[in-house]
Amino acid sequence: MSTLAPNPTPTLGRLLVYGLGLIGGSLAKGARERGLCREVIGVSRRQETLDKALATGVVDRVFSDIRSGLAGLGPGDMVVVCVPTLSVKAALAELRDCLHPEVTITDAASVKGSVVAAAVEVYGRFPPQFVPGHPIAGSEKSGVDAANPDLYMDHRVILTPAPQTAPHHVAAVRHLWEGVGATVSTMPWDEHDEVLAATSHVPHMLAYALVDSLARMEENREIFRYAAGGFRDFTRIAGSDPVMWHDICLSNSAAILGVLDRLTTSFSALYQAIENSDSDYIMGVFTRAKEARTHFTKMLEKKAYLEPMTANSLTYRTQPGAAPLGGRVRVPGDKSISHRAIMLGSLARGVTRVTGFLEGEDSLATLQSFRDMGVVIEGPDRGEVTIHGVGLHGLKPPPGPLYLGNSGTSIRLLTGLLAGQSFDVVMTGDESLSLRPMKRVAEPLARMGALIETAEGGCPPVTVRGGQVLRGIDYVLPMASAQVKSALLLAGMYAEGETVVTEPAPTRDHTERMLSGFGYPVERRGAAARIRGGGELVACNIDVPADISSATFFMVAAAIVPGSDLLLEHVGINPTRVGIINILRQMGADLTLSNERTAGGEPVADIRVRHAPLKGIAIPEDQVPLAIDEFPALFIAAACAEGKTVLTGAGELRVKESDRIQAMADGLKTLGVHAEPRADGIEIIGGPMGGGVIDSHHDHRIAMSFAVAGLVAQGEITINDCQYVATSFPGFVTLANRAGFRLQEFKG
Ligand code: S3P
Repeated sequence: MSTLAPNPTPTLGRLLVYGLGLIGGSLAKGARERGLCREVIGVSRRQETLDKALATGVVDRVFSDIRSGLAGLGPGDMVVVCVPTLSVKAALAELRDCLHPEVTITDAASVKGSVVAAAVEVYGRFPPQFVPGHPIAGSEKSGVDAANPDLYMDHRVILTPAPQTAPHHVAAVRHLWEGVGATVSTMPWDEHDEVLAATSHVPHMLAYALVDSLARMEENREIFRYAAGGFRDFTRIAGSDPVMWHDICLSNSAAILGVLDRLTTSFSALYQAIENSDSDYIMGVFTRAKEARTHFTKMLEKKAYLEPMTANSLTYRTQPGAAPLGGRVRVPGDKSISHRAIMLGSLARGVTRVTGFLEGEDSLATLQSFRDMGVVIEGPDRGEVTIHGVGLHGLKPPPGPLYLGNSGTSIRLLTGLLAGQSFDVVMTGDESLSLRPMKRVAEPLARMGALIETAEGGCPPVTVRGGQVLRGIDYVLPMASAQVKSALLLAGMYAEGETVVTEPAPTRDHTERMLSGFGYPVERRGAAARIRGGGELVACNIDVPADISSATFFMVAAAIVPGSDLLLEHVGINPTRVGIINILRQMGADLTLSNERTAGGEPVADIRVRHAPLKGIAIPEDQVPLAIDEFPALFIAAACAEGKTVLTGAGELRVKESDRIQAMADGLKTLGVHAEPRADGIEIIGGPMGGGVIDSHHDHRIAMSFAVAGLVAQGEITINDCQYVATSFPGFVTLANRAGFRLQEFKG
């Protein structure tokens, strides 16, 4: 019996299934058992099939000739053609002569181009009642005996309607397939045929060819006895119906031959690599393939390999009445440093080993981009990543657009780095990234000779045209931005002469430090960083410290909850990032640094935070770039402080993952705090906080800041869209609760 509940009100009249093999029989039986239509009619030329179909409850009525079956079908009814691919044309010709023009027609053939061509040939134009379709389900079993009403449960069905197809016919077919448990999507027929050639048709060709070539080796027939494991898994599909695959092979020949050509080339390369014991090449193929295999569903959709955690929505709920925070906490690795480790490690000569790497979506997006450009990267495995660098000129064109998710750092730094390559690259991102300004990098890079196109308003997608000659420039940054500075320095490695970037205020200098660590000289003179083109990066090992921006949520939390005493371990305290420590101290927080040391060219320390009453201050403008990511959490500290806190000179906060001034002001007001946004800052008066529902605006730091607010709020706080926390702080809820938060997360 089916596992879906019967549909009490069928919207479909009669369903005629033409061809009662595994595919047609399963659909007929599934629709009948679920009551998706008034009646199921089966048509097959073979009497034996019809008898079995009736006997096993696959259909209500049967006919051996299609004409009789079609008699009386009218609007609201549907015909599903389930004959082998090369027989679809003849079947459509039979329908043309005797079918009412309002009866929906669909089919189930695995190739869509040939079916569309057949329909046009038979009807003289594309018939508006026809919805070409393809259920991606099957089994090595065939025939009506194998009909399984649950065959389509959780399988995909692709519909390839033409522009001429009437929408109500598409809706009817979608309804039928969804009714038997399938997930339905639509795409153009030519795209369908290409995707299926690569993911289904060629794998079948390979399985048939392997079994056949082994079977023909007379003397080796014995080996089948030992053929377990890999052979059995790989060749399972060689047990499929030969007629069906013969038809598919001939109907989709162009796409199949295209894929076979590419495969032949990679086979020869692998052959040679094995012959020459080229371990790097072999490891490269296997590592990339393993990664791609893990994410093959995404590949099928031609999207990024990584299944973003942000795909499913998450809600946080805080509970009032937190106990003091305590213990030791090590937050995940620094996001900025993790991005740069992948970038420079990929472009270096030799193997770079990274520890403490942030396995958050943003840095994983960077990692995936370099894999897409041919770099072999092992891991991440508990923060360890091994990068087999390809040298400054060793990147390869990616197979499609690079998808950078939510990550501004990835897209901006990559724009600079890719400006110096010989190939074109398109970069895209999620909803939030698609609204962020890219002109700030595109304009100075264009002055260097780069060719960069952005979408309307200077936003992503960004296209970087390769093969340009870059020249060093002397550029004064109009805003304090480490991302713009870094993009120009990275492009500077590929430019003739010297690139000089002067910043209006010090911003994080991880790029400069790490370039030096990789042996690429960067000179710092006053506010200017200078780099010459034509150098080389040499692989090194990088220990990524814990991210001070992630530690901030715990610093503020311990500072505001009475009785707290918390130790944050191994936190990066680069002088260009310590604005949060300076500002919190000025507000009266009790922070002590100990065990100061250097890791991977960056200063680190343990930070002890004890509760102390906070007071409102005017935040010094020179601290703004040094605490640029920490303001959402600082605003919570300000809301808990006595008196007024005023922030100015922080207009940049309006173009982060969200407009952080507005988002925080709105959230604080919801909780009953006085918060007045200004063009370049905010004014907050400390006072009691209540509960409420907060919109995180797809911004990880807004979400985590209000989780901190929940520690002292008098009511429950519900925070929406917290899935974005995974961009910078995977495991936040677990770590927070271990330290003393009372935070719950819910799907949806
Ligand atoms: C970053 C620089 C900053 C910061 C961002 C990370 C970096 O951005 O806000 O989270 O890694 O270079 P801006 O350069 O836009 O200030």
